[in-house]
Amino acid sequence: MTQAAKPHTSADGRWLNLRLAPELFAADVPVAEGLPACIVVQQGRIVWVGPQDKVPAVYAGLPAHEGGARLATPGLVDCHTHLVYGGERANEFAMRLAGATYEEVARAGGGIVSSVKATREASEEELIAQALPRLDQLLAEGVTAIEIKSGYGLSLEHERKQLRVARRLAELRGVTVRTTFLGAHALPPEYAGRSQDYIDLVCRDIMPALAAEGLIDAVDVFCERIAFSLAETEQVFQAAQALGLPVKLHAEQLSNMEGAALAARYGALSCDHIEHLSENGIAAMRDAGTVAVLLPGAFYTLRDTKLPPIDGLRAAKVPMAVSTDHNPGTSPALSLLLMANMACTLFRLTVPEALAGITRHAALALGLQHEQGLIAAGRPANFVLWPVRHAAELAYWFGHKPDCTVVRQGRIART
Ligand code: NIG
Ligand code: FE
Repeated sequence: MTQAAKPHTSADGRWLNLRLAPELFAADVPVAEGLPACIVVQQGRIVWVGPQDKVPAVYAGLPAHEGGARLATPGLVDCHTHLVYGGERANEFAMRLAGATYEEVARAGGGIVSSVKATREASEEELIAQALPRLDQLLAEGVTAIEIKSGYGLSLEHERKQLRVARRLAELRGVTVRTTFLGAHALPPEYAGRSQDYIDLVCRDIMPALAAEGLIDAVDVFCERIAFSLAETEQVFQAAQALGLPVKLHAEQLSNMEGAALAARYGALSCDHIEHLSENGIAAMRDAGTVAVLLPGAFYTLRDTKLPPIDGLRAAKVPMAVSTDHNPGTSPALSLLLMANMACTLFRLTVPEALAGITRHAALALGLQHEQGLIAAGRPANFVLWPVRHAAELAYWFGHKPDCTVVRQGRIART
């Protein structure tokens, strides 16, 4: 049965004969690319990392895992996904190829609302069965932590179902999942013309109930002219703040709503998409320490031409993350490495920026910076061994699933 967790073996021991990419390590780890290095894992945690000839004697008796001169990187972090949904939307792909825009598709009753219908019709078990193969593709490519949003349920019952599925996926695959409540993703059909009523329902009923059930790690809103206004977004942020939940935002994807500046005022973990981000938004994100999450898959699918303001973000030292934005409408992407490649080619990120974007900065966008995105002593063992000579190859190849070894949550992953 596809849902069964496959057997995993402990990663405890000395991982020998590794190469480390210095840009992917903590500043205090004395390694250089090409050096035979070693990672020591005990009880599922990294206890030591550094040059192999300096491994402390106390670890000498631990079992050895041969690294085969492969490149070790932190596990990848996919910090923005809508992985759990019913059905697919290949028909919209055809509509858009025939000339319809994303907004036209949405206004014609397609778009997010059509996934809402299919998600509501699916049982929890059906959603798990549909999401697992997608998750497995991401995991096979080295993902060790992933964000999963709700937002295709749009009612208490169905948002709960989506978030419960996200939690179940974490258990089934032994992967770190951060759940994000995106009840304000689209207006459900039964609330047509009553946007304020729906936002009131989200803030007063749905979000508090799901938070009380421990199903929400963060709260997101789709702030856009085809979704929710700035005022509605702020209402959701206030409700999240009252519950002690961190916020994030789908911001300035199709137009500049000045959503990023609002999100920054609420100390947002991240603002995502941000093709139309203004100078004001960049400054606000810089001051708040908000991560800029770049989503080249959606940019590509929508044949967008407005590039996110990379130079401005770089100049302001706003940390940039890169994610799949996996969703059935605008980014049916199942490769985070491909997104790194596209972030370089389409957005002109440098390779180190793209690699930080799928590791360290992506962890920061989820508030997981102390657990994920870096190989360092004291952290849970989440790392990947790649059969490549240079770290740059991770962003260079595309359409290629490298034969990597993934250590996830201290286990050698088989999925
Ligand atoms: O991140 N922008 C809004 N949400 C998704 C699209 C979801 C959908 O089309 O189903 C996104 O691109
Ligand atoms: Fe999204």
